[in-house]
Amino acid sequence: MQLCLEGADATWFYLDGSSMRLNASNGRSLDREELESPVLMVSLICAEDGSAPIEYRVIVQVLNENDNRPRFRGDPILTHNVSELVAVHSVVFSTQAEDADGDTLMYVIDATSPDARFFRIDLPNSGRVVLARPLDFESRRSLEVVVTAV
Ligand SMILES: *[C@@H]1O[C@H](CO)[C@@H](O)[C@H](O)[C@H]1NC(C)=O
Ligand SMILES: *[C@@H]1O[C@H](CO)[C@@H](O)[C@H](O)[C@H]1NC(C)=O
Repeated sequence: MQLCLEGADATWFYLDGSSMRLNASNGRSLDREELESPVLMVSLICAEDGSAPIEYRVIVQVLNENDNRPRFRGDPILTHNVSELVAVHSVVFSTQAEDADGDTLMYVIDATSPDARFFRIDLPNSGRVVLARPLDFESRRSLEVVVTAV
């Protein structure tokens, strides 16, 4: 009896005796984001002298894992001009990050950043940064805050 693999995705697999194994060698690894389709199809052909070959179709579904870090759109260092008269509790700026895995992101103010106490994020998924205390142009002309996307 002879076994062989055929089909568009056959190069992802190899036969080891009667086991079908994933060929993820040569720095090639299975990454859902890189695949055109999340489903790999391969045919196992079984041939024997004197009879017609039979085909066994194997469908492998590649499940997504959270293997990408979120990234901010555009420049990760932003400057915003905000009037000192902006009301406390109003949104002073928004930030948006992207995640290749399509996961829901949360935005967190880094409490160790220099002026973190001036800002707040009320809705963790929104990326909207709210003013937490009044601004005063005469005492402070610039504030710095770090927002992390998780
Ligand atoms: C795995 O795939 C690479 C090409 O991507 C090929 O050179 C190698 O021979 C394959 N390994 C096996 C065991 O089939
Ligand atoms: C903020 O205002 C200053 C002075 O008016 C201006 O030079 C600067 O381009 C403004 N920055 C932004 C991000 O709007």
